[in-house]
Amino acid sequence: MTSTVVRLMQDLENIGRDPIRGGYSRPGFGEHELTMLEWFVAQAKARGLDVERDQNGITWAWWDLPAEQTAERTADQTSAREHAIATGSHLDSVPGGGAFDGPLGVASTLASLDQLQEREARGELRRRKPLVLAVFPEEEGSRFGVACLGSRLITGAITPERALSLTDREGNSFADAARATGLNPDLMGADRARLAGLDAFVELHVEQGKFLGNNPLGPAVAVASSILGHGRWRFSFFGQGNHAGTTLMVDRRDPMVAAAAFVLAVRETVAAQADARGTVGRLEPVPGGTNVVASRVDVWLDVRHPEDTVTAALVQSIYDRAVAAAGAEGCTMDMVEESMSGTVHFDDSLSRSLVTSLSATTSGVEMLPSGAGHDAGILAAHLPSAMIFTRNPSGISHAPEEHVEDADAQAGVNALTDALAALLSE
Ligand code: GLV
Ligand code: MN
Ligand code: MN
Ligand code: MN
Repeated sequence: MTSTVVRLMQDLENIGRDPIRGGYSRPGFGEHELTMLEWFVAQAKARGLDVERDQNGITWAWWDLPAEQTAERTADQTSAREHAIATGSHLDSVPGGGAFDGPLGVASTLASLDQLQEREARGELRRRKPLVLAVFPEEEGSRFGVACLGSRLITGAITPERALSLTDREGNSFADAARATGLNPDLMGADRARLAGLDAFVELHVEQGKFLGNNPLGPAVAVASSILGHGRWRFSFFGQGNHAGTTLMVDRRDPMVAAAAFVLAVRETVAAQADARGTVGRLEPVPGGTNVVASRVDVWLDVRHPEDTVTAALVQSIYDRAVAAAGAEGCTMDMVEESMSGTVHFDDSLSRSLVTSLSATTSGVEMLPSGAGHDAGILAAHLPSAMIFTRNPSGISHAPEEHVEDADAQAGVNALTDALAALLSE
């Protein structure tokens, strides 16, 4: 029989498929993310939840306490939605991404809710806290350049002024894109009161590396210990745009040649540093014609390392190499830091309590560091946050080959249910 989480994932199968890149392209605040959000809202309402979208575009679906417990709270003047447990993930994707990065977490929260509601109806769960399912917009930062835009806005990790000034590849501003989805940009920004109402946040996510996949007979889930510090920098190389046929090779100032040297310098610099990762995954020549020597090339750099001082030193070395690469081609160069998130260590006691809850039904659950960024990492600076990873046998993510077996998706849901049941009853 098909499990609920698998059926929920099937609902999303045809939303935002990318026929050119393969996989899915679901940019934040775009048509596909919104279609998926409408699906989530309908699913949440069908389960009796009260759904609201906050001023930063985060969707919150409340499973309030039963009348009896609400009355107890009224008696001791605790409001009905204080001390809530939150769980959720995101619905947007990178260009040509897999089906599971984000949506698996969202589908799992709904499937877990079903299990929790059944447990409560059977008298096996006596909640002391409300549960809220959260969906965060533009987690990937694939459209406006800054990842975890919703969680950065609510926590104040990005100012609304800076967020609103971001633009996508077509030149649309974040302000206009947000307005088009019904938000009022003037109201965006940190919402400490909402965060203060949350006792903990748990995000279930597909594992994006090989740890669980390398042990197919081991547990299908793990708990995150930390998130690798990571940042994004845009390097722009400026030369002289010109004609491909009439410009002699000796007469060129070609920013594409500087960019090519830069890409190789990134590989060399980062490969020499243990535990570091450096990626150039996006490069845009201007104007971008086969028979045109580019006038400008923008290159985006992603660097990650457990120690933030090492990340900073790597970026400085790469910057120096970029200056040299530009100079050698008679070009100029400019760098902008788009974002930097330091290494996050998740709340130790919450993560350990998750391992304990999971260990009741699954032996050998381990803690592992995450090389990928997540909204949970941004929220962690403000409230106890934790993550559960579900096995991805391909070990591949941000690509169409990302995969989760049905049985493992169910194991993830079971783990999330146990973790949430423990937190809700505390
Ligand atoms: C987001 O998924 C990231 O880690 O880049
Ligand atoms: Mn994700
Ligand atoms: Mn991702
Ligand atoms: Mn991510």
